[in-house]
Amino acid sequence: MADVKITWLGHAAFLLEAEKKLLIDPFISGNPKAPCTPVALDPDIIAVTHGHRDHLGDTIEIGARTGCRIISIHEVANYIKSKGVFAEGMNKGGTMEVEGVALTMTQALHSSSIDASGFSFDGGSPAGFLIGIGGHSFYHAGDTGVFGDMQLIGELYKPEIALLPIGDRFTMGIKEAVKAVELIQPKIVVPMHYNTFDVIKQDPEEFRKAVEAKVDTKVIIMEPGESIKF
Ligand code: NI
Ligand code: MN
Repeated sequence: MADVKITWLGHAAFLLEAEKKLLIDPFISGNPKAPCTPVALDPDIIAVTHGHRDHLGDTIEIGARTGCRIISIHEVANYIKSKGVFAEGMNKGGTMEVEGVALTMTQALHSSSIDASGFSFDGGSPAGFLIGIGGHSFYHAGDTGVFGDMQLIGELYKPEIALLPIGDRFTMGIKEAVKAVELIQPKIVVPMHYNTFDVIKQDPEEFRKAVEAKVDTKVIIMEPGESIKF
């Protein structure tokens, strides 16, 4: 099985590298934990979970510079296109094969708008992604609360590695994220969307202890800029 290299760029931003490079939610400018500048990123694909600034991030700038493919929910794709950059829309429940990477869009329990839009653009609704890359399966949950259909996501797609928010206030906190792990049953969980700002301060070791007390899932706590291989 091919290796996939996963790099956390802080917050909800991850770079997954196999034959092709997939960048998810590239919030780099304005992200105090970002380990690089947007100019350092040269992805083949960007997947955006929703319109909020801390997820759409530098998508338009990176897309304009690299000509990479940009995938998001229909409404966010329309916004990106209105800025003169090509983007491709999809919606929940559907799968797209993009440069050999499979992207399935799932629901997320959250909101979505495009902060720079002056409210003239609808951000559609928020999403998560199941990702098949390099022979491995990932679930990037986006910004979400816990929901019972995470069990269905676990049954249907069997993600090996779940990337779950734990920062609370805008997403799941630790209690809810532990329940999400129980529902999804991934082999590995990587916490995200915490400690970027004071309002989402969280102790990932507390999450690790709580998960490992309940299920066999391994918790991998990453540092922004750190890479691991599967
Ligand atoms: Ni959000
Ligand atoms: Mn967010």
